[in-house]
Amino acid sequence: MNKTIQNVNRRDFLKTGTKAAAATLFMGTGGSILLGACNTVQKTVSIPTVTLNNGVAMPMLGYGTSTLNENNCNQCIVDAISVGYRLLDTATIYGNEDFVGNGIKRSGIQRDQLFITSKLWVDDSGFESSRKAFQRSLDRLGTDYLDLYLIHRPRGDVRGSWKAMEELYSEGKIRAIGVSNFEPHQLDDLLTYASIKPAINQIENHVFFQQHEAHAHLKESGIQMQGWSPFAAGRNNIFNNETLAGIAEKHNRSIAQVCLRWHYQRGIIAIPRTSQKAHMIQNINIWDFELDPTDMQTIATLDLNTTQFPEWD
Ligand SMILES: NC(=O)c1ccc[n+]([C@@H]2O[C@H](COP(=O)([O-])OP(=O)(O)OC[C@H]3O[C@@H](n4cnc5c(N)ncnc54)[C@H](OP(=O)(O)O)[C@@H]3O)[C@@H](O)[C@H]2O)c1
Repeated sequence: MNKTIQNVNRRDFLKTGTKAAAATLFMGTGGSILLGACNTVQKTVSIPTVTLNNGVAMPMLGYGTSTLNENNCNQCIVDAISVGYRLLDTATIYGNEDFVGNGIKRSGIQRDQLFITSKLWVDDSGFESSRKAFQRSLDRLGTDYLDLYLIHRPRGDVRGSWKAMEELYSEGKIRAIGVSNFEPHQLDDLLTYASIKPAINQIENHVFFQQHEAHAHLKESGIQMQGWSPFAAGRNNIFNNETLAGIAEKHNRSIAQVCLRWHYQRGIIAIPRTSQKAHMIQNINIWDFELDPTDMQTIATLDLNTTQFPEWD
């Protein structure tokens, strides 16, 4: 962690095969330049990466796409890429992979500069179905590989799905495979038969559900934690929380920036969603301030230690 893409060395580059890293070797510090399809030159922000358990470098901050649709998704993706997001998080169940794919195409960015995640939905579980669903995702996204593919929920024939994902990984069609919404015992079960250890578990994580036990278990297992809904999707009045507002004021930042910085300092990848370009820019600018131990302890007191999305359980 704490290694910006610009600081990636030749050895890491050869190991991960990330051409994005090579491209950024030629860029100055403090920002890179992207020439978009609309011929505007936009200053972008460099995002630190973490090295996953298979050697692949993954951005510590990405762009979430759930609920983005035909009206806004395409333009949001263009905007997100233009301000510096490289990790894009979608899923079959979001119904927007084709809009994400169109946005990528319109952005004019090279495919190998992106880190694209999609997820296998429950209805497609099982060996054969998973392989077919994966190909449909590729087709919708307009790409011939994924950087990360996750089992979205621990339901159905997880064993068959995992075998398919291991096979697709071995064929070079996915750079890293992982899971989402797996509780520690479900992960332990998968590890009894997996030939390839998941690189990621993407689980709910925000100040109201801090997941300390799950995080510790993932660390012990050598699996990177990624948090979904870093703002609890706005629930529990997060953007008016007085404790967070106090910390934000102290650092002259927004509550959103405090939440995302808190993820980063815990070593957890965050994927905030916004449909507003101003918020995209705000959310990606969290690298030049630090929450001190008192801030971290204060935020720890906000933990309700329970999901804020009970309807999904
Ligand atoms: N694996 C899973 O099961 C799972 C489940 C849920 C989510 N996810 C992933 O996690 C991503 C993020 O979670 P989420 O979409 O539920 O919600 P979220 O990122 O926690 O919150 C999104 C909300 O925050 C607002 N917002 C964003 N930036 C802001 C800012 N700087 N200031 C004020 N408001 C701001 C957005 O409004 P505006 O648009 O107005 O900015 C939106 O209402 C998803 O998009 C998806 O990719 C995965």
